[in-house]
Amino acid sequence: MSDALTTILNRRSVRTFKSEQIKAEDLQKILEAGKYAPSAMNQQSWHFTVIQNKEVLKKINEVAKFAFEKYGNERLKERAKADNFSAFYDAPTYIIVSADETAIAPVADSALALGNLFLAAEALGIGSVWIHAVNFLYTTEEGKQLFEELGIPKGYVPFGSGAFGYNSGEKPKPAPRKENTVTIIK
Ligand SMILES: Cc1cc2nc3c(=O)[nH]c(=O)nc-3n(C[C@H](O)[C@H](O)[C@H](O)COP(=O)(O)O)c2cc1C
Repeated sequence: MSDALTTILNRRSVRTFKSEQIKAEDLQKILEAGKYAPSAMNQQSWHFTVIQNKEVLKKINEVAKFAFEKYGNERLKERAKADNFSAFYDAPTYIIVSADETAIAPVADSALALGNLFLAAEALGIGSVWIHAVNFLYTTEEGKQLFEELGIPKGYVPFGSGAFGYNSGEKPKPAPRKENTVTIIK
């Protein structure tokens, strides 16, 4: 099997992270992979905001906790109550992918870019997981203010985010694949 296929099959969402930071050169490789994702009309509508500063990560987590409490979903509210709440599992690197909301397909562009980030991370021995919290954050004024402070470009909407770091636990086993999800017409 090609290296790419092995990487795709081996990638799993990791939710336990060491505090050790990922290497700067690996971060650059991960970001390069994101920038080489396909995008509608090659608009490359994305922007990658990488947060590794502990104070800033703490601030994002506080705003996320607030957003989880306010969102109106009982499970999110419960999660936010935990003393050790971390929207991004205490990962040392958190990447927000935002995109120009006037682009042709900003959601799809962002998702494909994030997919590439995760696959590149896997290829480099770095764990990762999609963090949907960024979308809840965007529903609050505090969240929007935070995104401005983080320098997310004007007119860009955060469509997805990911936590990255070295896995401190067992690599999860893949869930069984659903049946009957393919139709081939010849
Ligand atoms: C759009 C999307 C949102 C997700 N949001 C979260 C999330 O907020 N937190 C989380 O722990 N995992 C999240 N995940 C990861 C999924 O739970 C995970 O991909 C799925 O369970 C399959 O496991 P695998 O990635 O190990 O194959 C998300 C995945 C996607 C594609």
